[in-house]
Amino acid sequence: MKAILLKEFGAPDQLYLGEAEQPQPNSNEVLVNIKATALNRADTLQRKGMYPPPPGASKILGLEMSGVITAIGDKVTNWKVGDKVCGLLAGGGYAEYVTIHSHCLIPMPEGFSFEEAAAIPEVFLTAFQAISYLSKLKKGERILIHAGASGVGTAAIQIAKAKGASQIIVTASAGKHEICKQLGAEITIDYKTQNFEEEVLKVTDNQGVNVIIDFLSAAYFQKNINSLTMDGRMVMLALMGGIKVEEFVLTKILTRRLQIMGSTLRARSLEYKIGLTKDFSDFALSKFATKELQPVIDSVHDWKDVADAHRYMEANKNKGKIILRVS
Ligand SMILES: NC(=O)c1ccc[n+]([C@@H]2O[C@H](COP(=O)([O-])OP(=O)(O)OC[C@H]3O[C@@H](n4cnc5c(N)ncnc54)[C@H](OP(=O)(O)O)[C@@H]3O)[C@@H](O)[C@H]2O)c1
Repeated sequence: MKAILLKEFGAPDQLYLGEAEQPQPNSNEVLVNIKATALNRADTLQRKGMYPPPPGASKILGLEMSGVITAIGDKVTNWKVGDKVCGLLAGGGYAEYVTIHSHCLIPMPEGFSFEEAAAIPEVFLTAFQAISYLSKLKKGERILIHAGASGVGTAAIQIAKAKGASQIIVTASAGKHEICKQLGAEITIDYKTQNFEEEVLKVTDNQGVNVIIDFLSAAYFQKNINSLTMDGRMVMLALMGGIKVEEFVLTKILTRRLQIMGSTLRARSLEYKIGLTKDFSDFALSKFATKELQPVIDSVHDWKDVADAHRYMEANKNKGKIILRVS
């Protein structure tokens, strides 16, 4: 099969369209002919050799896909050849074919294109996990979502709105505020020119927020803690702002009974991913049908232009998902 491969770890120009062995489904898996895949920040790290795939996963980049089932394992009863699906992968999405456990698939929502469906799995499952499973956002609570216009951020805004958040506050660079507002953010903060902690306290009557979805880690740690209210929860999903906090005042963790959580989706067990896929599908499929939830697509690229797509993501230019059309 054709696949995007790596000459060696490094810059985007190490990526090329080559030939790889086509995977075969085991008893509980299906084989999917991929029509579209989507970029994730993790792909750029894997490309540089900084994020190896978990044991047993394909070495080919790509954490999600949409496509058509072309073969099923002998124990698979929930899908048939020809079904259109999308799903989360531990790797192997930048390819013509991939195998995936039959219970890790999501049916392609009615009326969706392959490009739209490929924009769902990674960011919506990540955001759903952070909001529903980890922070357990309740109706009427306030939430701060960093990197609001990122793939995960755009999904998190919509899920927080669907869950009944009373106030959705995001940080993003100024040119990305409009899309965040369209999706449901009430307050947008330009983190480049404004102090987000001061802004959060201003718009919440000095109360702070109940939940924070964070990707900036060290750079935002103290300000995040200062922005949380009593019994506040913070979910850390990335280390984009560094891993080391030089000085930190712990008091508020204790006095405000704060909970600080971290998570990576890729390393979760198969059983966890199956449960998450089911719970997310139950929550979201009807909402995709009514457009209450919508994947946000920045741009669609031919997969031959994958290096340009990686450069575009690394320049922080995207609002929502960057899609690769696989052909
Ligand atoms: N833990 C997990 O399970 C999990 C799963 C999926 C993704 N992730 C991680 O989540 C992050 C987002 O992923 P993605 O694919 O959605 O990314 P993305 O679409 O590439 O968006 C990342 C955005 O972060 C914003 N940003 C950069 N520095 C910022 C800052 N100081 N403050 C606020 N925003 C800033 C940039 O937008 P601006 O122009 O607004 O700066 C950038 O476009 C990545 O680090 C990814 O690795 C984690």
